[in-house]
Amino acid sequence: MEIIVAKDYQDMSEAAADIIAELVSEKPGCVLGLATGSTPEGLYAELVKRYEEEGLDFSRVATFNLDEYRGLSHDHEQSYHYFMQKHLFDHVNVRPENTHVPNGANPDAEAACDAYEASIALSGGVDLQLLGLGHNGHIGFNEPADEFTKETNCVDLTESTIQANSRLFNSADEVPRQAYTMGIGTIMAAKQILLVVSGEDKAQIVRDVFFGPVTPKVPASILQFHPNAIAVVDEAAFSAC
Ligand code: GLP
Repeated sequence: MEIIVAKDYQDMSEAAADIIAELVSEKPGCVLGLATGSTPEGLYAELVKRYEEEGLDFSRVATFNLDEYRGLSHDHEQSYHYFMQKHLFDHVNVRPENTHVPNGANPDAEAACDAYEASIALSGGVDLQLLGLGHNGHIGFNEPADEFTKETNCVDLTESTIQANSRLFNSADEVPRQAYTMGIGTIMAAKQILLVVSGEDKAQIVRDVFFGPVTPKVPASILQFHPNAIAVVDEAAFSAC
C-alpha cells in the first residue's frame, strides 16, 4: 500500500481529490466507488470546486456507494443517499441515473444486496474505490469479524459503530441496527483503492491497519494485499506509526 502523509485535513482532502480528478479526466466514463462519513466531506467539496472552476466533467461517470442503513429511505436526512446528494451529486453534472446507493428501503435484504452486486458487475466493475476508516477498522460497514465478507450483504452494526454514528442522529436509539454494505470481496475487486483517514483519534487503528497482521478482526488490514491501494492520511492520523 502506498501511503501519502498529508499535513492536515485540508491537505489530505486536496491530495485525494487530485487522484480522483485525474482519473475522471483520463477516463471520463469511469466507475467511482464512493464513501460517506465526515472524512470525505472535504474531498467532495474539492471535487465540486474543480467542477465549478475547472469544468471537471462527471457527465459520463458512474458511481456506486459502499453502504446504506437498512430501513432508511433515500430522502431520510441521515441516509447515505441523502448525504451524497448534499455533498456531491447535487453540485456536479453527474447523471442521477448513473449514481447508485444500496436500497435501504428494500426490507428484503437478499434481494437488495444481490441487485446491488449485479449492477456493479453490469457496470464493468469499480475503477477506484474511495474508503474511510471506522475506529474499529471497519470499511464500508464491514465490522470486525471471524472471517472476511465477500459480496454485498446485510450486517448488524456493532455497539461502537452505533455510538460513533449517533452524533448524526437525535439519539443512539434512532441509529438503524443494520446496514447493507459492499463486502470485503466487492471492495477488493476494485482496480484501485483510495483510503482517506484524518485525526489523532484514528492513529492507533491506522497503525494496526497498515502495519499489523492482516485479519478480519481489523477489516481494513486486508488492503495491505491490494495491488493498487493508496492511503492519504494526515499527520495526526499517522502519529502512532
Ligand atoms: C461509517 C461509514 C464508513 C465510514 C466510517 C468512518 O460507519 N459506514 O464508510 O468510513 O463511518 O466515518 P468518519 O469518516 O466519519 O470517521
